[in-house]
Amino acid sequence: MTPSLRVPTDADVEDVARIMSEGWPEAVDAGQVRQAWASPGFDRERDARIAPGAYVHVEALDRDRVWINLRGRPSTALVDWAEGRARERGGRILCGSWAANESVLEELRRRGFRQIRHSFRMSISLEDEVPVPVVPAGVRLRTFEDGDERSFYDAQLEAFADTWEPIDHPYDEWAHWLLDTPSFDPELWFLAEVGGAVAGFAICRVHPGNSDLGWIQILGVRRPWRGKGIGRALLLNAFRALRARGLRRAGLGVDAENPTGATSLYESVGMRVVDRFELYETEHT
Ligand SMILES: CC(C)(COP(=O)(O)OP(=O)(O)OC[C@H]1O[C@@H](n2cnc3c(N)ncnc32)[C@H](O)[C@@H]1OP(=O)(O)O)[C@@H](O)C(=O)NCCC(=O)NCCS
Repeated sequence: MTPSLRVPTDADVEDVARIMSEGWPEAVDAGQVRQAWASPGFDRERDARIAPGAYVHVEALDRDRVWINLRGRPSTALVDWAEGRARERGGRILCGSWAANESVLEELRRRGFRQIRHSFRMSISLEDEVPVPVVPAGVRLRTFEDGDERSFYDAQLEAFADTWEPIDHPYDEWAHWLLDTPSFDPELWFLAEVGGAVAGFAICRVHPGNSDLGWIQILGVRRPWRGKGIGRALLLNAFRALRARGLRRAGLGVDAENPTGATSLYESVGMRVVDRFELYETEHT
């Protein structure tokens, strides 16, 4: 192993959180690092390295895609290691960074990665009163109750089938990220129901690394119910709930060319783009 790279240990968790927060729009806390290290199929020994001022882990998004999660100010040696590990795991290799992290993006281009897509961070201030949502007739909004887990999961898989290259996590992995975490907050999970059927949902939380930030993790409306104002109602309802918690802003990430018009929806409720993530893929496989 290159001497300056090593496997991170439990004692590095705070350092890794600090490095992961650098140049990122939201701070990452130690709990998020531990959660990533405990995720199904992740092997810290084989999949993660820390170096002075930089950290990387390589994770399988699914059978065909590998994600290089590159943070801080990575050396060529660190990126070499990550690319090697990604090739070993097999499949398409994806990586990226925020538009301002030009040195990281330049390093990727130099290695034959090409930009394939970009996404936005969008944000809204919750300082002012949020309008009461107009809930379409026949739609009931309610929060999570025990036994709803699969309803959220199934609705998410179905709604996101219409997005660009969705990641279909198996249920256990989905539950690891969303339910088995201290930030799981059933009062911030919302279902829109029509006659007992799930029409849409919003999964939100207080951002673990940023105590003033409400985070819209996942929003979806199933196809038959789209274009009726359910997405907007779920979003405004979420903003109001987050504001009632005393949070000062709400944020989310969205594919810039979301084929179902999500960016227009977010703009229409007053959200604004605050950052841009550049997604790259290697041309060499
Ligand atoms: C994005 C999504 C949640 C919108 O839900 P929805 O219930 O159809 O949205 P609404 O009916 O409340 O739409 C409200 C506004 O959004 C915009 N909008 C919604 N769908 C749109 C589309 N296909 N094209 C352009 N704008 C659209 C419009 O501004 C609309 O305002 P209008 O009613 O005055 O025209 C839904 O299409 C969906 O689940 N998509 C797949 C999953 C996804 O992409 N989720 C977001 C990921 S970040």
